[in-house]
Parts: sequence; structure tokens; C-alpha cells
Amino acid sequence: MRTSQPQTIYLKDYKVPAFVVDHVDLRFELFEDGARVHSLLNVRRNPESDSTEKNLELDGDSLTLESIQLDGRTLDEGDYDNRGEKLIVPAVPDQFELAVVTWLEPQNNTRLEGLYKSSGMFCTQCEAQGFRCITYFPDRPDVMARFRTRVEADKAAYPVLLSNGNDVEKGDLENGRHYVTWEDPFPKPSYLFALVAGDLVEKRDSFRTMSGRDIDLRMYIEPRNAEKCDHALDSLKRAMRWDEEVYGREYDLDIFMIVAVDDFNMGAMENKGLNIFNSSCVLASQETATDMAFQRIESIVAHEYFHNWSGNRVTCRDWFQLSLKEGFTVFRDSQFSSDMGSPTVKRIEDAAMLRTAQFAEDAGPMAHPVRPESYMEITNFYTLTIYEKGCEVVGMIRTLLGDEMFRKGSDLYFERHDGQAVTTDDFVRAMEDASGRDLTQFRLWYEQAGTPELTIRDDFDQSSGVYRLSISQTIPDTPGQTNKKPQHIPFALGLLGAGGEPLPLTLTADEQDAPKERVLELTEAEQSFEFHGLDERPVPSLLRHFSAPVRVDYPWTREQLTFLMSNDVDGFNRWDAGQRLAIDVIRSLIGQGDSAPVDPGLIAAYRGLLADDSLDQALVAKMLQLPTEAYLIELAEKPEVQAIHQARERVLSTLANELRDDLMACYHRNTLSGVYEVTPESVARRSLRNTALAWLLHVNDDEARSLALAQYADADNMTDRMGALRALVGSDFEEDREATLDDFYQRFQKDPQVVEQWFSVQAASGRTGSLPQIQQLMQHPAFDWKNPNKIRSVIGAFAGQNLPAFHAEDGSGYRFLSEQVCRLDDSNPQIAARLVSPLTRWRKFAPVHGDQMKAALEKVSQKSGLSRDVYEVVHKSLA
Ligand code: PHE
Ligand code: ZN
Repeated sequence: MRTSQPQTIYLKDYKVPAFVVDHVDLRFELFEDGARVHSLLNVRRNPESDSTEKNLELDGDSLTLESIQLDGRTLDEGDYDNRGEKLIVPAVPDQFELAVVTWLEPQNNTRLEGLYKSSGMFCTQCEAQGFRCITYFPDRPDVMARFRTRVEADKAAYPVLLSNGNDVEKGDLENGRHYVTWEDPFPKPSYLFALVAGDLVEKRDSFRTMSGRDIDLRMYIEPRNAEKCDHALDSLKRAMRWDEEVYGREYDLDIFMIVAVDDFNMGAMENKGLNIFNSSCVLASQETATDMAFQRIESIVAHEYFHNWSGNRVTCRDWFQLSLKEGFTVFRDSQFSSDMGSPTVKRIEDAAMLRTAQFAEDAGPMAHPVRPESYMEITNFYTLTIYEKGCEVVGMIRTLLGDEMFRKGSDLYFERHDGQAVTTDDFVRAMEDASGRDLTQFRLWYEQAGTPELTIRDDFDQSSGVYRLSISQTIPDTPGQTNKKPQHIPFALGLLGAGGEPLPLTLTADEQDAPKERVLELTEAEQSFEFHGLDERPVPSLLRHFSAPVRVDYPWTREQLTFLMSNDVDGFNRWDAGQRLAIDVIRSLIGQGDSAPVDPGLIAAYRGLLADDSLDQALVAKMLQLPTEAYLIELAEKPEVQAIHQARERVLSTLANELRDDLMACYHRNTLSGVYEVTPESVARRSLRNTALAWLLHVNDDEARSLALAQYADADNMTDRMGALRALVGSDFEEDREATLDDFYQRFQKDPQVVEQWFSVQAASGRTGSLPQIQQLMQHPAFDWKNPNKIRSVIGAFAGQNLPAFHAEDGSGYRFLSEQVCRLDDSNPQIAARLVSPLTRWRKFAPVHGDQMKAALEKVSQKSGLSRDVYEVVHKSLA
């Protein structure tokens, strides 16, 4: 816990470490009442540092120091300074051995950082600064050492003992104890250290690398999860092959291990050779996991695996460079997912998330650049900006360089920096050096926060046949940053003729055979482009594939949007046109009451989508989804949540009523027979069918009700069972809703991953997630304050998805959240700081809401002993 005012850490203060550690020898004695850690460090003055620092400074957090020896000589308390989170050993020689013994209480560690226990097993989480909760160490990513780790524990209770690298020795000890020693040949930063000890089942597989080496793949799970590993192992093998083929990257150790733990703050962790996963991000079976979960697992398994190169072999110099590994690795995993499934759908999902949540972050009080300049608590910077915008930035480099040069750049980056801790600037320089392109202005994407806004206007001169696009860019002010410079933006576009045909984009009057899609490069505050040789005014298809993470303002007419929806050759923009049309219609209905007519054009467009079986059904499934409330709120200036909700509901029920027969036909047409498979085609069909069902139940269609009950009862997979449950939860068939929820719990109560889904489907819905119902869910025996997944699935789903309830006029939702944050702050500050985030947007809302949100935040800020994590978020939001 914090003892003084949190300090701000600045990038500009970075200094190379005065000392380096060549080797770390660790010995863990694990007991029920605690753990003793013996650490032996080989320390040496860093030849690359010009520091004359005489003292060795080590980080330590919540540790009990038992003893410390320098070159065999025991230091007394007066020989060192152990205050706050530092241990300072004065006047050390240029090279020495430091032996430190610490005592920890993993069984009482509720922060889930460092060494802790989860369902009876020991496990670790060291990124970003968890290693300092295990032993004293220069806990920074630019100190890379070789690790040797001996784990000792009771043999019956903890038969499996794991750490990074290869197991080199094992044996029995006295008192029924045993040990295993692990050696990792690759130097690594402390944040990649991991240890696991438990009574776990081992699942084995293998992979032959491109150079013919056989890698042992091992997955460790609790016995009850033995049947939920196949998908992760298959995903892993696909990812290993893909990284060889697409990036030329081969795995480097002989063993690759995956462990599933139930209590985990994040999704998963790329520890060298020993990835640790949140159970919900790795375990799946047809009966217990939805298609979405299958896809999420595939991408997370790949993400962690890809880190072995982008993150582990080449790591970050300091935590300001976090996006170096995260942005690049998210980019790699999204390329992989696109290659495994439908590229258009993947792009839609990524763009939708970015526009809904990252744009909101960029417009809020915690806005920060992809490479931040300062932080108080680094854990607060594992954000959508670092991950998703960072991914977009890498994607734009690829767009600017082209595939071939991008691959040359990544080869150069890995070759040049293998074994080093580097910066985002090193990454960009490798791309420049390999391609010969100048990315000086492009670097602003790393330095400037905020979402660029493009204002686009056009005109057509019939007499000359010239169509002109004028594009201006501005970047809004963000905390600490004003008067931003124009950025280098790759802007993909096409033009469509009246019959829907793609037109050549002829930039000069004499150009022949111009391409039908171009990537324009925007570099100035205002630019215009002329397209020649056109007979009539074209319809522009702007920012195709979402070629840059920007907002676009263009005065589309509903006719143009309808036209693009059915004619654009770019699938992404077809979807986008549909979203824009629906948004326009929903907005025009806000505050118009329940009888205001819904534009028949929208109904006709959806009817067309439902009827046309020749369209890519995966795309149709996406296009049928109305823009979310969260996105509508994000787009609004002073959003009125209840009115937005009502307008959207009005459109939904109109569509459902008007398209009833089409929805029924769609439902039946997409009923699959045969074995369950997770292919893009069958995923799309299940998604379409479940959307149709949900819409029909939304208007209390009795025939649909029978379909839902039958689908629920007969389902052989979780996607269909959950689809039916969700549809019933969204309906007014109260008895069926309650009965089905009960049945679902009875069936799956032994499976935490399913119980989490059961919690969140209720918490996210207006019909089952009122505040009193939420409080009741928190009294449920399956709810657990110590388990982050349970907190996310109840409190997180309520505040993040059940928006009309969270934004109740009386402020009860806000007060509730602030109470939960205060309660959680003592036990798990990381999760508390994430949970508070919906309140931080108080300035966006009209005072009726904003003032109450602010008051709820102030309440949190007054809590005594507030963690550094929550302190930073709350204080920046109130500033
Ligand atoms: N580095 C992990 C990832 O991106 C995320 C993580 C961060 C996990 C911090 C735990 C703690 O895959
Ligand atoms: Zn990552």
C-alpha cells in the first residue's frame, strides 16, 4: 500500500542502468504459510553507463528481508538502506555476488502480482513490476539476465513444478518434498520470469519447426479442465507455423508450456517458454465456449506466442516503449486471425472496438500517446491506445511501405536488435532503413495523443470532368498537449460510378490506366486531390479498410450510404455505410417518441441484406448488427443515454416487426445440421441465426419464443445455447427467462468459465441487470471478490454494457460503482483502477449526469490509503 504521494515518472529522465545482472540463481521453498526465496545475483558495473553511482539500487515491494550477503559477507541492518520500495546497498565493488533471502505470503496475495495462489496452485505474474514482489532486483526491462530456478514443494500437493526454459535436474527431498531445477538459456528481463507449482494435468503435443526441430508442447490444467485444451493446442500449432511462414520466425526453446489459472488480472502473459493464461482466455469446448470465445482464444494464444520474438527476443528498453511489443504483437495477431478467418470481419471487429473504446479513451482525461511521456503507475498504461492504436500505427507503416518492404523491415528489426531492449524509435528506424522511406513525420503517431479528425468536402465540375476532394485534418487537444502538428495519414479510397462500378482514380489529365483504389498520403493540415476524366459525379468510398485510426466527417446523404451498402467493392466500407445509415436514422429519432416513423430506406436496406444469400454471410451477420449504445454515446456531444437507448430500441423493434417473415426465413435457412465446426462460414450462420432470433424475441414473437426454447434445449454447442438464452433474457417472456437462467446455472454451475458468462449475460441486460438485481448477483455463492473474472462479469458488465441502468437519473449506478471501487482498492488495486474508468468520462455528459459522476469520483479520491493505481486515474480525471 502507498505510504506517500505517488511520484510521476518521466521518459526524459531515462538513464541506462548503472549495474547489470549477468546471472540470477533462484531457489523457491514453497510452503502453505509462505514462501522463502533465495536469490543469488551476479552483478557488474554496466560498461555502457557513464554513471559514477557507487550504490546499488534494487526494487522491492511488500517483501520481508531475511538476510543479505555481499560476496559471502553478511550485511547488518546498518550496512544498507531499506526504505519504501528501494533497497540501497552502498559502495559496492565493480563486480560482486549478492545473495538475498526474502519471505513472502503468496496465500495472502490478493493483488495477483508477484507470487500468489490461485485455486490451490502457486503461480506468478511479473509484468510489469511484479518481480520486485518476489525478491530485490533491478526490476526494469533493460536489465537482462540468465535465470536458473530451483522450485521446492510438497510432492503430493504440488507434483508439477515449472519455470522458464528447460528442466535440467529433479529429485526428492526430505519430508515428502521434491524439487525441479529449470534453466533458461536466453537472457531476459525480470518481467518475463514465471513459476508454477500445482497438482496439474499435463496435455502433450508436438510441433516440428521449419528447420526440423521437434518442440514439446505442454499444457497444464486442473484435472476438471482436461477436456478443454484441444483448441488452444491447435491454435498454438497454427500460430507457430504462421509465424514461420509470414515472418520467418522460428521457436527457440525445446519446450513450450501453457498454464491456465482462474485468478488472473489480465488475459494472458508471455513469460519465456511458460505462458500463463487466464482460464477464460484458453480453455474451451464446444459445450462450454461460444464461437466468439473460440476466436478470442485462438488470437490470444497466438498473441502470447508471437511475443516470443516481438517482446522477448527483442524487448522494451523501458515501460514508455510498451507499445513496441504490444502494438506490434497485436498487429501480428490480427494478421494471423485475418488469415485464419474472414479478413473483412476481423477488420470490422477491430475498427469497431477502436472507434468505440479507444477513441473514447483518446477523448478522455487519461488520453496519452502510443509512446507516453509520463506515468505514475505503469499498470494503468496497458490501454487500448498502447495495444490497439499501437497496432494501427504498425499497420499504417505496412500500408505505406507495402508488404515486401514491411517484411524486410521486420527482418532487419529482429536481426539488428535480437537480445536487446529497444525503443519504438528503433523499430521505426529499421523500417526506414530497410525501405528507404522517410518516416520522420510519421513518428508523430507515437508522440501525439488524440484522434485526428478529417473533414472532407468535395465538388464536381461537369465541364472539365474533374472531381475534387478537399481534406483537412485537426487533432484535438489532450491533457498536456495542444497545437498539434499534422500527421502522416495513409488514406485509402475509391470512387464509384452510378451503376456501382469502381472508377479509375486518374490524378493527372494524361495518366493512363489509373488504379481503381489508391492510398493518398495526407501530410498537411489541408490538402486537395483532383480526379480527372469523370463523366458524372462519383460516390466516394472513403478511408477504405479503415486505413488509419481517424474520424471522418463527410456530408453523406442517406442515398449515398444505401448505395455504398450494396455496391462498394470494399466490404469494410459496405459495413461502415450501413452503420452510418443506421446511426443517422437512430439519431433523428432521439426524443421523437415511440410512434415516430423509421426511415423506410433503412428497412428496405436490411430486407435486402436478409434476402440476399449470395452475399458473404459473415459480412451480412456483421451488417445486421445495429451500432451499439456505447458507440452512439461516444459519437454524441452531450449524450442522453436513456433517449439514445429508446431511439435504438425503436429502430430495433420496427425492423423486427417489419421484417418478421424475412427474419424467420433467415433463421431457418441458417439452421445447420451436422457436426459443430468453427469455420468462418458456420460461425457466420450461427451468428445470423442468433441475431434473427434475438430481434424476433425483442418484439415478443410467440413462434420465435418456441424456437428459442427448443434451440436452448437441443443445442449441442454453447453458441446456440447462449444465443437462445440471450434472446430470452432480452425478451419480456419473464417466466421463460427465469426458468432458462435457472436451468443454465444448474447445468453449468461446476464450470467457472460458464458461470462467468451466466453472470455477464444478466448484468449486461436491462431486464435482468437493475441495480438491486446486480446486488443480488453479488450475493450469489458463485460470486467471488477475489476473482477478477467474477468482478468483470458482474460489475464490469453492468457499468460497461448495461448503460441505461448504469446512467440511471438518480445517480445510483455511479454511487454503486464508486463503492465497489473503494472496496476493491485494498485487495486488488489494478482491477479497481480499471473498474473506475466509466466514471472518468464525466465531462462528456450533461450536468444532470456529469455532476453525479464527478461526485462519485470525488468519493473515491477521499478514500484513505488509496492505491497508486486508483489515485492516478481519479486525480487525472478530476484535474
Ligand atoms: N503482456 C501481456 C500481453 O499483452 C499482458 C499483461 C500485462 C499480462 C500485464 C499481465 C500483466 O499479452
Ligand atoms: Zn501482449
